[in-house]
Amino acid sequence: MTNKTQNAMWGGRFADGPDAIMEAINASIGFDRRLAAQDIAGSRAHAAMLAAQGIITGSDAEAIREGLLTVLSEIESGNFTFSTALEDIHMNVEARLKDLIGEPAGRLHTGRSRNDQVAVDFRLWVRDQCDEALGKLSALCMALVSQAEAGADWVMPGFTHLQTAQPVTWGHHMLAYVEMFSRDMGRFRDARARMNECPLGAAALAGTSFPIDRHMTAKALGFDRPAANSLDAVSDRDFALEFLAAASICAMHLSRFAEELVIWSTAQFRFVALSDRFSTGSSIMPQKKNPDAAELIRAKVGRIMGANVGLMMVMKGLPLTYSKDMQEDKEQVFDAADNLMLALAAMEGMVRDMTANRANLEKAAASGFSTATDLADWLVRELGLPFRDAHHVTGSLVALAEKKGCDLPDLTLDDMQSAHAGITEDVYKVLGVHNSVASRQSFGGTAPDQVRAQIARWRDQLK
Ligand code: ARG
Repeated sequence: MTNKTQNAMWGGRFADGPDAIMEAINASIGFDRRLAAQDIAGSRAHAAMLAAQGIITGSDAEAIREGLLTVLSEIESGNFTFSTALEDIHMNVEARLKDLIGEPAGRLHTGRSRNDQVAVDFRLWVRDQCDEALGKLSALCMALVSQAEAGADWVMPGFTHLQTAQPVTWGHHMLAYVEMFSRDMGRFRDARARMNECPLGAAALAGTSFPIDRHMTAKALGFDRPAANSLDAVSDRDFALEFLAAASICAMHLSRFAEELVIWSTAQFRFVALSDRFSTGSSIMPQKKNPDAAELIRAKVGRIMGANVGLMMVMKGLPLTYSKDMQEDKEQVFDAADNLMLALAAMEGMVRDMTANRANLEKAAASGFSTATDLADWLVRELGLPFRDAHHVTGSLVALAEKKGCDLPDLTLDDMQSAHAGITEDVYKVLGVHNSVASRQSFGGTAPDQVRAQIARWRDQLK
């Protein structure tokens, strides 16, 4: 069962190679190969710095640079043999570099450890994912703004408790999600700004006795500054946790919207029609057009939040500094990021393609006594009733309409006056859904004018 090949990277003190089970539990190359490009970028920056500081020669640095570029192109073209015996991406790259350039490869690891190496690789990867999420969120917001613009004054029911509450505009509803997704963007931006410190040069944990220049490597890799404490630098995974936290909240928003699309596309609601491109059929029921993409997006929050909790549990209770537990940080982040990006892209596609059914939205908006509040407000404004009394009078009219099986605007003036003698014909003008939404002019309200002002703001902000 034992693998007699000693590890060339650290086998000096070992008489025997690892057991096959040891190798299996220890290796991360199965997944951390995804960090290849970041690993090579980090090594290139490190080698250039070592040469600039006179720690290695210029010709060694040049050989390392050329060799690393070859390794990268081998990996990118699929012509690279990853070895489990070499544990991880760092040692796979270094071993191949040694095959290619010989002795200078052994100088690359001067003043560095895999502990700061993996920290920098993973940070670079997560930073890229923040950028990716920002781009996708911005595209989704643009799609929502376009929907909002098309139906800035289309009327639909607004819900509380999923019961008809008051009429709102389609544009207003779309822009509610723009607010949510733009806060997600803010979280990814904040996380990115905070993670943008470079751990490289922290070495194993204590820094190094070589005269390295951490500012140079930080700058070369696009970081704002080197991380200030070497112990923290190698053991910090907050950046991954913050990414996952932002991703979880974003996925939760996606799932709420997905749920609305599922409801809205039912035969009972028919508020929207999803495009064929983003729907599926049933193998048995020919009439079916299922919102599978929306349902899958609704579900993604489970695994993304799972990753967030999972990594938190990995990190909980770990003493400073690096522990091998931390190798368990990557797979969940990879999975969460992949699924978030897919969900964002699918949601953007669905939103771009979907067609709102204006007539059905308006019909639904007018049912369910949705303008009862407008009636109560009229009693306050025109007859000077205290709001509580107006609420009571309106409630009795709703009960009457319910008994007669009609909506509020269908009640006769006699019906109205039976509840309050002061009511006049004038009341009917506030019972229409268009008047209702147009009257909600308070800042941030649902009136089409307010919605158009917000659309203009978003168009400006998102470009
Ligand atoms: N594969 C390791 C990880 O992902 C790299 C760091 C290993 N460091 C160590 N001291 N064993 O965490």
